[in-house]
Amino acid sequence: MTGNTAQHWRLDCAGQSLVLTSSGGVPEAVYWGPALPQEEDLAALVAASCSDLTGGMLDALPPLSLCPVQGNDWQGQPGLVLRSADGELLQPRFAFREARQCAGRLELVSTAAGLTLTHVIEAKETGVFVLRTRLESLAPVRVDWLTAPVLPVPQSAEQILDPAGKWIGEFRMQSTPWTTGIRQREARTGRSGQEHPPYALFTEPGCRNTSGEVRALHYAWPGGHRFVAEELYDGRRQVQFGHASGSEREAGTCFETADLIAAVSTSGLNGIAALFQRDIHDRVVTWPDPARPRPVHYNCWEAIYFDHELGALTEIAAKAAAIGAERFVLDDGWFGRRDDDTTSLGDWTVDRRKWPDGLTPLIEAVHKLGMRFGLWFEPEMVSEDSDLYRAHPDWILGPADQTRGRNQLVLNMALEPVRDHLFDAISALLSTYAIDYIKWDHNRLLPVVDAAQARGTLALLARLRAAHPQVEIESCASGGGRIDAGILAHTQRVWLSDSNDALERLRIQHGAALFLPASVTGSHVGPRHCHTSGRVLSMSLRARVAAQRHMGFEMDLRELDPEETAVLTAVTGWWKANRDWLMQADILRLDAADPSVTAELQLARDGSRFVLSSGQAAAPAQALPRPLKLTGLEPAARYRLVLLNPEDVPPQSRGACALKSGPVTLSGAALMQQGIMLPVAWPGTVFTVEGTRL
Ligand code: DGJ
Repeated sequence: MTGNTAQHWRLDCAGQSLVLTSSGGVPEAVYWGPALPQEEDLAALVAASCSDLTGGMLDALPPLSLCPVQGNDWQGQPGLVLRSADGELLQPRFAFREARQCAGRLELVSTAAGLTLTHVIEAKETGVFVLRTRLESLAPVRVDWLTAPVLPVPQSAEQILDPAGKWIGEFRMQSTPWTTGIRQREARTGRSGQEHPPYALFTEPGCRNTSGEVRALHYAWPGGHRFVAEELYDGRRQVQFGHASGSEREAGTCFETADLIAAVSTSGLNGIAALFQRDIHDRVVTWPDPARPRPVHYNCWEAIYFDHELGALTEIAAKAAAIGAERFVLDDGWFGRRDDDTTSLGDWTVDRRKWPDGLTPLIEAVHKLGMRFGLWFEPEMVSEDSDLYRAHPDWILGPADQTRGRNQLVLNMALEPVRDHLFDAISALLSTYAIDYIKWDHNRLLPVVDAAQARGTLALLARLRAAHPQVEIESCASGGGRIDAGILAHTQRVWLSDSNDALERLRIQHGAALFLPASVTGSHVGPRHCHTSGRVLSMSLRARVAAQRHMGFEMDLRELDPEETAVLTAVTGWWKANRDWLMQADILRLDAADPSVTAELQLARDGSRFVLSSGQAAAPAQALPRPLKLTGLEPAARYRLVLLNPEDVPPQSRGACALKSGPVTLSGAALMQQGIMLPVAWPGTVFTVEGTRL
């Protein structure tokens, strides 16, 4: 590095700093981590970060730039794979051109023959950096891979922690040690996916939920992405996130990545969780009416499936309202001739066999019960047995002989006539009926990875939202197959999983809490006999797990006995009384000493109150519960704790556990350093403890 010609830039947001430099090539992030002192000498920092050289290397270490490429001597994974329109591999050598900086925003421009590479970095008020790459070309080119700005991960980091999953088993966190070489994950299903959700955390040794240093990235794209974490032979580590490779299928002159959201924490994984949760709630999601409380949700899918009948649904709606529901969602089965999943997707007109007078009678009944009304769609899909497919077989995405998924094909959302048709069809229903909620489903893996498909869907969502600004939208993809900040910029809720098994949900919600706030995380009380696991779980467990997030019911409420009704009504009432602060609270995961316990604290933003949920997911190994250490409290403050469901304490609990007999008052220090002792619990119990700062 030629120190005198180098330029340096610095960006800060709450708790983290980013320092970049260029000595002539594409700028490089030399520091990404916890906040540096304001007076830090950037030139000295950059000079101090410069590595030595040894044998078997080039005579200068190629910089780990925001977009490292072979043309700039880079020998690791390239940040750009580029071809001319006729397929010839291009190896541009970029030179830095200019920087544009204003409060909280930095744009760094580099150029090569006919190419302009722009890196945009913004420091957001929510405490995250948002980074994006744009490539412009004078002549059409093909982009096989373009990374969002590359950030370095320190060589001291120990593990890569990222979520994996499957249908009815989302957000299973897995940990991989850094070793020389690459760890690559790629979502090639056309969705951000259950398999490889677009999130990654990089933990320093000893990092836990409640302590330690960690960096995290989230790629805000619903169309399938690629993630590469590489440790080079020289020890440096780079992370790349971009659209899935090859998903830009056409030659073009302008390509852009999605937003890469970056966060740093020195307070463990919870520091990241709180930043990401707040960022989604406060910045990413646009709420039609932010002041409107999150309504208690009812969804009829697991109650009646395709068997729609006004009488039955009105009866269920009345029961839902009596228990406390405030929104009623009519799921799949209301349109075309949809009696099962083999037909009618695309025919978005009300099935007059099931609904001879249209949806108005049901909507009126729902409104009379004081609830809002929502409707299910799967707009991007088409059944071969549909009028739409018969009229437009040319509108499908991928080859005609592709393997079907859930018996259905996918519409090519890049085609304007397809988007216009869907806009008109959905808009007509939203205008005809008093609908203020859409459950937007997406139930198959796509036949091709295609960024234009995702752009088309986002454009349709944006157009519908502009035309119907009061309508909220839920992102569902066979449960949690499309959960990312890209889709959440147009939606207000995600259907986290098709699993309504409360024990599974407890784990899935715990994993998802690293990324998602309660306000967008749909969680329903399912049927007594769980439809995806066959398990029979108590109403208290089912209700308390749903009440951890955006609460709803999804079952035939006619199955409830009086005791179940009473428990569900009570928990729903409690949730409604607390939702205003609870839906904005930080979900902090606890490091339970007992691995059979999944516990979390929902801490009000002002710190004045919290709810502790301790879930006994399995039988414990030891005879008695281990003390549960709380987190995030003020050490010197005193807190009053009340166990809300002492009735769930089993008969085998014979001791003098203080919480059983009344409130417990302790300092934050005692609660965090010694912990709280909960009663013995049967597997399948959640204890809910309210805490108030005195
Ligand atoms: C999959 C969803 O995840 C379910 O909740 C339900 O809406 C079905 N699709 C309907 O087909």
